[in-house]
Amino acid sequence: MKINLVKNSQTETTLVVFAHTSEAAKGKKSEASKKSPIKVSTSAVHKHLENVLQDGSVSAKEGDATYFRNQNWGGAQTLVVVGAGELTDAEAYRRLASCVHSALKAGSVKSASIDLNGLKIKDSSLQAFVEGLVLTDYSFDELKSKKKTEDHSISYDLIHAQAASAGFKKALTEALILAETVNFSRRLGDLPGNYMTPTQLANEAVQAAKGTGLKVTVWDKAKLEKEKMGGLLGVSRGSSQDPRFIIMEYKGAAQSKKPVVFVGKGLTFDSGGISIKPSGGMEEMKYDMCGGANVIGTMLAIAKLKLKVNVVGLVPSTENMPGPAATKPGDVHTARNGKTFEVNNTDAEGRLILADALSYATELEPQVIIDAATLTGAIVVALGNTHTGYFCRTEALVKKVEKAAQNSGELAWRMPLTDAHVKDMKGTFADLSNTSGNKGAGSATAAAFLEQFVGEGIPWAHFDIAGTAWAVGNRLNYCPKKGASGAMLRTFVELAKQY
Ligand code: BES
Ligand code: ZN
Ligand code: ZN
Repeated sequence: MKINLVKNSQTETTLVVFAHTSEAAKGKKSEASKKSPIKVSTSAVHKHLENVLQDGSVSAKEGDATYFRNQNWGGAQTLVVVGAGELTDAEAYRRLASCVHSALKAGSVKSASIDLNGLKIKDSSLQAFVEGLVLTDYSFDELKSKKKTEDHSISYDLIHAQAASAGFKKALTEALILAETVNFSRRLGDLPGNYMTPTQLANEAVQAAKGTGLKVTVWDKAKLEKEKMGGLLGVSRGSSQDPRFIIMEYKGAAQSKKPVVFVGKGLTFDSGGISIKPSGGMEEMKYDMCGGANVIGTMLAIAKLKLKVNVVGLVPSTENMPGPAATKPGDVHTARNGKTFEVNNTDAEGRLILADALSYATELEPQVIIDAATLTGAIVVALGNTHTGYFCRTEALVKKVEKAAQNSGELAWRMPLTDAHVKDMKGTFADLSNTSGNKGAGSATAAAFLEQFVGEGIPWAHFDIAGTAWAVGNRLNYCPKKGASGAMLRTFVELAKQY
């Protein structure tokens, strides 16, 4: 997708302008304003369309698009008037851009100028607008015999008087990097288990990192054994696919500066193992690597944005299958930090592979550890697909998370994590159990298990993205209806900026 910022309209054949409800009409002050309540922000176009603006054929409602073809107006054959809605925050611009892109796609438009003058757009809202265009352009059809992606790509000229400003240029660059890495991560999530194996996930990370300055190291099974990654190895036992541990390093600050570490669950398919899942909906468990995919995307974005911070991304990756050598309920394994755990339910496997990764993260003496995982069905019960639930016991980090989510527009909701939850995870025959001894609070007890592998005093936040990693398109128009969303990638980049 090509997007240019320009001062004046080029020779595009399609011009997009925005419709507002006039201030006067909002207050219903005069009869005249009631008669013509719609204002088009591009005044010349407003004049041109004056008549139809009065007859009610144009709506100012967010995203409502009206096509005027064969206009031969100022070089544009087609005028598209899109309702701007209220535009109360950056997220509204992200949504609006999505509506514009969908409307143009539906109209088979190949290139368009969008007049942003009169939208009261600032750097952050321009960034959101561009993100909305690129995020909406994502589709996953590489496994279909007939592909339609290419012939649908649209090139845009964004028209604004301040097109040359440094702030706008930076907003455009940043938006493209963020949205393109989100789309990259979405693709990894959407690829099914037979394509997206642990080996493949590692290969994708290596390939994508080329030319970015990221250093990628991949541990194979032999190395994992040497390194005592007992959680990851234990989960992988039932699978014919070898596990991988992906380490991505970015150096944007002085060597001496401690890193920010991101960890992502990279379960390329979760059948549940011997504690096998019911078959209905099991195909969705290809998405159980979205935490890992989004951490890989986060690392790519941070490197491309050249943030002045040292960052490490860790992705433990395996399948969870019920093969002959699979971990059995009751089996005890030893994690990298020496703690032992009973596997009382082989379907609670994410926490076992994260245990090793968090132990390794601790060894890096980081400033902070942040993880993302499709960890529990319980978080879906609690929060549905509106909010990602996060757990954090460090107030200073909570502040940073809230600020990051505010900036990204992604919704995150703090959940409780207490000593009571830790107690619930005590083992009978080993140090820990991977299931709670009490009913309920399944997401908090999972977080409490993870906490046992985070070094004392290291600020840590855990994001349970089980409800938000895919199929959020019913709420967010710039996300696919059924596919992966890239949840928390943009928030994680905003977090990294704060170090
Ligand atoms: N990957 C699942 C969690 C999940 C469930 C993600 C539904 C997205 C949608 C995880 O490995 C799992 O199966 N967790 C169990 C834990 C339980 C056995 C303690 C769960 O949530 O049921
Ligand atoms: Zn599971
Ligand atoms: Zn899982």
